[in-house]
Amino acid sequence: MSELNTIALKILEKGKGILAADESTGTMTKRLDGVNVPSTPKNRLLFRETLFSSSSMTECIGGVILYDETIKQNSSKKNKIPELISRMGSAPGIKVDTGAKVLAGSPDEKITEGLDGLRERLKEYYKLGAKFTKWRGVYSISKNYPSKLSIQANAHALARYSALVQECGMVPIVEPEVLMDGEHSSKECYEKTSEVIKRCFDELILYKVDLKGMILKPNMILAGNKSKDKISNEEVAKLTLECLKNSVPSEIPGIAFLSGGQSEIEATENLNLINKYNDTNFIMSYSYGRALQQSALKFWSKDIQNIEGTQKIFNHRAKMNTLAAQGKWSKSLEI
Ligand code: G3H
Repeated sequence: MSELNTIALKILEKGKGILAADESTGTMTKRLDGVNVPSTPKNRLLFRETLFSSSSMTECIGGVILYDETIKQNSSKKNKIPELISRMGSAPGIKVDTGAKVLAGSPDEKITEGLDGLRERLKEYYKLGAKFTKWRGVYSISKNYPSKLSIQANAHALARYSALVQECGMVPIVEPEVLMDGEHSSKECYEKTSEVIKRCFDELILYKVDLKGMILKPNMILAGNKSKDKISNEEVAKLTLECLKNSVPSEIPGIAFLSGGQSEIEATENLNLINKYNDTNFIMSYSYGRALQQSALKFWSKDIQNIEGTQKIFNHRAKMNTLAAQGKWSKSLEI
């Protein structure tokens, strides 16, 4: 077993998932504005450190994706944040893309940037303790989109990124996110997601990425949030499995879904059903941002010194998702 494969499997072992705490300062500021907490480096650290020192970090969270600011910060006890995460039994990771920008040639679409100078940045993150990385490509669905151009350009960037990350001894998380914003049906989401993922793997293979040493972070197959098409959670699970079975090579050790704007319970319920019906060899787990943090953030914002209360809420959500990653969750366990 290669070292990268071992790291990937360890992150997702026994129903563990990933905490995506890699919101850029701009996105984190929006989240904090939403709960009326000033977005200062100190407050961003306080909330994140509260999560990273929760007991569920040991039992449920196999990896944490950090943002550049956080990986370089020290905890209140003067430990480096990646050290705190490792000591809790989890793996520190880092978002390395520099964001989605307007795609020249198709200005309504986005291309994710960050390849220039990436090798040097990766070396720095590796020294800081990162074991894995993340890069997100975004695609929106409408009449003419995603275009062949955006599918190709983002697949190319994801593959070049992955090859550089593995060269540096870390596991790349490959995140092609087909957004749920829009009026599209679940069928359209299925078709576009399949095309996007297949194209990504064509490029990953071309760039000689070791498929056993990466994690795929896809969206689930959902109808657009403004769609008339209403599908059940069972259908979401079955379509998602069908799509991944047909587009993901069997060597991939694990799949960790993004939550992409689903509510906390919806993201847990869908993951649980995916695992109930999972007839593949893929581990199917979570790499959630909002669906792990929303309730904890809301509670914390009322009293930012209430560490214990905030951790209790976060621990519950992490536990529910770890049960769902094993198909063992039920609604009756929710408080
Ligand atoms: O890139 C997106 C995040 O890592 C996942 O965030 O679960 O809120 O969609 P989300």
